Amino acid sequence: MKQRAIRVTVNGRTHERTVEVRRTLADFLRDDLDLTGTHLGCEHGVCGACTIVVNGEAVRSCLMFAAQVDGAELLTVEGLADGERLHPIQEAFWEHHGLQCGFCTPGFLMTLYCFLREQPDPTESEIREAISGNLCRCTGYQNIVTAARAAAGSLRAGAS
Ligand code: FES
Ligand code: FES
Repeated sequence: MKQRAIRVTVNGRTHERTVEVRRTLADFLRDDLDLTGTHLGCEHGVCGACTIVVNGEAVRSCLMFAAQVDGAELLTVEGLADGERLHPIQEAFWEHHGLQCGFCTPGFLMTLYCFLREQPDPTESEIREAISGNLCRCTGYQNIVTAARAAAGSLRAGAS
């Protein structure tokens, strides 16, 4: 089986591992690094549950190979909080009941993390468009949108 040595920084910590070339990034994070906050729903790019940030871009980790992130900087849901302090997007989901079972939540958080950096003052329809690739079977999306708007407000207030 073909293997490759990779070096990757995840949530500020650098890891050097040897991976099978066909190992997905999602499996690498969950099984090799024990970062199980990244969830796997469909495993073929549809549900968005596995979304993480690679070099500043939101990507579906089920659609990438671990070997492709050699040299990259990754952020997963485990890296959002600052110690005990939740990230403003997490705080907003908490405050506005943006989750029920929570299975989809890491993917929404990481998608919104990238989106709100690019668009700090989005309209509701821009938020809905941004999260259109993330599926939630529980909430009906309304509270997720409300949480996203609140998070945008907190992030703007924090930046000013
Ligand atoms: S598990 Fe990756 S998009 Fe569904
Ligand atoms: S909160 Fe259950 S799938 Fe979204």
